[in-house]
Amino acid sequence: MLYGWLRWWLLRDAQGDVLEISAGTGRNLPHYSYSKLSSLTLTDISQPMLKQARSKYFDELQLQYKQPDVTVNSSSSSSSSSSSSTFQPGSFDVVVDTFGLCSCKDPVQVLQQAAALLKPGGKLLLLEHGKSSWGWLNSHMDERAAGHYRQYGCWYNRDILDIVQQAGLQVSSSSRWHFGTSYLIVATAPAAAAGAATEAAGAGVSAAAGAAARAAGAGGSAAC
Ligand SMILES: C[S@@+](CC[C@H](N)C(=O)[O-])C[C@H]1O[C@@H](n2cnc3c(N)ncnc32)[C@H](O)[C@@H]1O
Repeated sequence: MLYGWLRWWLLRDAQGDVLEISAGTGRNLPHYSYSKLSSLTLTDISQPMLKQARSKYFDELQLQYKQPDVTVNSSSSSSSSSSSSTFQPGSFDVVVDTFGLCSCKDPVQVLQQAAALLKPGGKLLLLEHGKSSWGWLNSHMDERAAGHYRQYGCWYNRDILDIVQQAGLQVSSSSRWHFGTSYLIVATAPAAAAGAATEAAGAGVSAAAGAAARAAGAGGSAAC
């Protein structure tokens, strides 16, 4: 249903130092152009999922991963983070999140924190599912959203563009698929966010979700 193609399309320009948050079992790994990457770091709150990703791809590709600090990351507070599981602000050229915002407690905060991890001029690459562009479908989804969340831990009717806007990101390109429920978004952090990130250096950046340390001793952080 197009998902493989959407993943490939989103990731085809990923380059430099890349962080993928909520990476799950590594479904994006076949779609990166590895010759363009300086590093690739995956995070997720689920150790079993990361293990699965490892068994499928990591040994072959020699990627690195670390389970996030669950205590830090299950918090919606942005105040924690002298934790060793935080990244230095401004560490990444690209932060990728695919189908991760539906299960975050606070997706706006997650995007803000992800933006703070970007180097100046860095990009956020998002492939998310959420609210449709069709009213009749939204009514159907809204009626079932609470039950779906209870069963799967996923809010499948979130307004992704609104979340991106609330996070203060600048959308460079976006398109919607599957009756508008799949969102492909490339966004950048405004200069102000980059400045804030620079000021935050040393304190680290906390994350509402997954977190991982990328380089030895570097306090790295991540998000959902
Ligand atoms: C729908 S899966 C998407 C996985 C993968 N990104 C993909 O595209 O297939 C959502 C992922 O978010 C992760 N997740 C949920 N809550 C999280 C949190 N608070 N912090 C980090 N990861 C979280 C789950 O473990 C799961 O791997």
